[in-house]
Amino acid sequence: VLCWFYVYPGYRLPRDKEIVEEVLRQGEVWQKNQTGIDLYRKLLTECCDPRRMFAVTKENSPMGKVLWYDGEFYHSHTVNNETYPLFVQSCTFPSAQENPLQLPLKKCAVVGNGGILRHSKCGQDIDQADFIMRCNLPPISKEYVEDVGTRTHLVTANPSIIEKRFQNLLWSRKAFVDKMKVYGSSYIYMPAFSMKPGTDPSLRAYYALADTSSNLTMLFANPEFLRTVGKFWKTRGVHAKRLSTGLFLVSLALGLCEEVIAYGFWPFSVGLDEQPVSHHYYDNILPYKWFHAMPEEFVQLWHLHKTGTLRMRVGRCP
Ligand code: CDP
Repeated sequence: VLCWFYVYPGYRLPRDKEIVEEVLRQGEVWQKNQTGIDLYRKLLTECCDPRRMFAVTKENSPMGKVLWYDGEFYHSHTVNNETYPLFVQSCTFPSAQENPLQLPLKKCAVVGNGGILRHSKCGQDIDQADFIMRCNLPPISKEYVEDVGTRTHLVTANPSIIEKRFQNLLWSRKAFVDKMKVYGSSYIYMPAFSMKPGTDPSLRAYYALADTSSNLTMLFANPEFLRTVGKFWKTRGVHAKRLSTGLFLVSLALGLCEEVIAYGFWPFSVGLDEQPVSHHYYDNILPYKWFHAMPEEFVQLWHLHKTGTLRMRVGRCP
C-alpha cells in the first residue's frame, strides 16, 4: 500500500487502517541494509551537515554571524557578546562533560512520544542503546520506565513547554531545575532561534541550568540545520509547516549514528490490535491539525524501515 507513494504522482496518503494492514503484513521482518545506511548518511551530510551544524556552536556561529530564524520570515539574531559565550565550542565538544559526544555514535535510539509505547515493554530495549534521544522533556518516571526506559543522552525542549509548564521561568526556576534531574547529564536541545518568542525562554532555561551547576549541557538547535532538514524531507513528500521534533531527531541520528532504532512513532488512532491508541504515551492531547504532517512522516520512516536503513519498533518489544 505504502509503495503507491513512490509510483503514482496523484498520491493519496493511506488511511490509518491501510497502514495497520501494511505494518502487520511486514511483521517483525527487518534486515539491516548497510548500503541504505551509508546512502542516507551521505545524503544528509550533503544537504545538512549534521555533524557540524546541528547545534549553534562557537565554531559555526562566531561573533557577528547572522542567524536567520527558520520558523519566521525575515527575523534574525546577530551573535553578540551576550549570546556567543552561551554556545558550546563545537558539535563534538570533547571533554565538555562526562559524556562527550564521540562520533560516530554506534546504536542510537530515537524515542518519539506516541501512545503506542504504552504497555510496549520497550524500556530495556531502549536503555541498551549507546545514545538515546527523547522529545519535548517527556515523563520517564517510575510508571513509564518499563515502556520507555530510564537513560537519556539528548532531550529536546520546545520553548512553549518552558512557557506552559514553568511560567516561562519568570517565577521560580527550582521546579524546572529539579524536573531536569531525571535526564541525568544529557544534552538539552532547544530551538532558541526558530521562532521569535522562543528565544528569551531558551536563554532563561540556559541560565537556570548554568546558575545551578546542573549536569545538563544546553545546545541551541541551529536554525540553518533545521531549515535544510525541512527542505530535505519536503523533496521527499513531507509537506508540513514544520517537521515534527521526532523527524528532526531521526535525521540527526541518521547523520550521526551507525544504527538507528525509532520507538514511539505512531501518529494513528488505532493500534496493530485495532484498539484505540492515545496520541502520547502519557496523555491524549492532540497537536494542531495542520502544523505537522506526522502520518506523511510515518510513511517516509516506514519506507526507511522496509529498506533496512533504520528500524522502527511499532509493536511490543520481545
Ligand atoms: O513537538 P511535537 O508535536 O512534534 O512532538 P510530541 O507530540 O512531543 O512527540 C514527539 C515526536 O514523536 C513527534 O515529533 C513525532 O515525531 C512522534 N510522534 C509520533 O510519531 N506519533 C505520535 N502519536 C506522537 C508523536
